[in-house]
Amino acid sequence: MAIERTFSIIKPDATRRNLTGAINAVFESNGLRIVAQKRLWMSVAQAKKFYEVHAARPFYNDLVEFMVSGPVVVQVLEGEGAVAKNRDLMGATNPANAAEGTIRKLFAESIEANSVHGSDSAENAAVEMAYFFAGTEIVG
Ligand code: CMP
Repeated sequence: MAIERTFSIIKPDATRRNLTGAINAVFESNGLRIVAQKRLWMSVAQAKKFYEVHAARPFYNDLVEFMVSGPVVVQVLEGEGAVAKNRDLMGATNPANAAEGTIRKLFAESIEANSVHGSDSAENAAVEMAYFFAGTEIVG
């Protein structure tokens, strides 16, 4: 399988509970390398644009409000099949459906406060990482 990059967010529910290291330990111990990382507090405009694809969904406004409720850690993960591997490690969107040992099963509070975001395709990963990082900030 090819070496890929994917985009990851550690969400406000997880930074609030000091889980950044615990979550990244799951990624690193499963072969993903953090090749870019920063902690920031998203503006409403930034969160709205990032989740634009969900704008028509009933949960959109609450999701935006949640994503600006505290700091997040945005990062780029690199490794073999990184897009799929990240999604496997995160588990199902709803922690009630997430498999044992996944990040969302271990740490998520709810379907909204689900601790992590990960790109769902290589195409979206490229768009999402460019939204937060200049090429020169991604260092493999
Ligand atoms: P994420 O992978 O970041 O993508 C969209 C987010 O919307 C999702 O994780 C959840 O945090 C949030 N969300 C809230 N309610 C729902 C829902 N009913 N279905 C899917 N995502 C939801």
